[in-house]
Amino acid sequence: MEKVNNDIYDAYGDRWYTADDDPVALLRAESKTKTPWILEKLKKHELLNSTTKVLDVGCGAGFLSNDLARNGLKVTGIDQSVESLAVAKKYDETNSVEYIIADAYHLPFADHTFDVLTAMDFLEHVEDPELVIKEFSRVLKPNGVFIFHTFNRNPLAHLVIIKLVEWFVKNTPKNMHVIRLFIKPIELSGFCTKANLVTEEMIGIKPIFSTIPLKHYFSGIVPKSLRFELTSSLLLSYMGIAVKNEGKNFNTAR
Ligand SMILES: C[S@@+](CC[C@H](N)C(=O)[O-])C[C@H]1O[C@@H](n2cnc3c(N)ncnc32)[C@H](O)[C@@H]1O
Repeated sequence: MEKVNNDIYDAYGDRWYTADDDPVALLRAESKTKTPWILEKLKKHELLNSTTKVLDVGCGAGFLSNDLARNGLKVTGIDQSVESLAVAKKYDETNSVEYIIADAYHLPFADHTFDVLTAMDFLEHVEDPELVIKEFSRVLKPNGVFIFHTFNRNPLAHLVIIKLVEWFVKNTPKNMHVIRLFIKPIELSGFCTKANLVTEEMIGIKPIFSTIPLKHYFSGIVPKSLRFELTSSLLLSYMGIAVKNEGKNFNTAR
């Protein structure tokens, strides 16, 4: 059974923010479309203010944590990669994000601590997303929101998200993603339901191919001009938001 390689993140250092010959460049480009969508959802839920407590799980080098802090939110970022957390802290212009080393299965926080929990490009990196989502729900306040990004599991996603990235982006690490850990939207909303979270919306996200100059296709480099856009298709890469039911009992992961 192929295991996802989560050790790769320890070695990136500043390359999280600078590399253009590695899939982290895709993650960076994608975050420019993900963050505005997230801010719009937070605004709709009246959570775009300085009292909102956000937990960003598997925050990596803090692309989202640091964006949210810039927008005035109180952000805690957790990750198991201590090296990535150091980079996240270095790039936090607000110097306000609390970066903590922790395991998503056992969050070091009391029940009902956060208004918002984000997990971007994360759920496909754990073996038991159902258990992890239960743990997320535990630390969310009633009516709190869970925002996620992950990849659908189907042959096209295997080809595009795994194989095409391996073929076209120079330094793609082996087993950065494995298809068996990709999650179908219906499975994800089932995990949410079991964790007392009601899925409100899911939306796809895809690259705008016209923003890739022709010469870049076989260069192994992700061009700085690359942009992503939202799409109604959940076939490949998708985000979503789920809201925690008010006042009901729920099972914890532990
Ligand atoms: C693909 S990166 C995503 C980083 C960030 N969320 C983003 O979108 O830029 C996945 C991250 O999950 C972290 N991770 C994987 N398993 C974890 C776990 N059980 N607990 C905490 N962090 C974990 C990895 O160290 C890595 O930084």
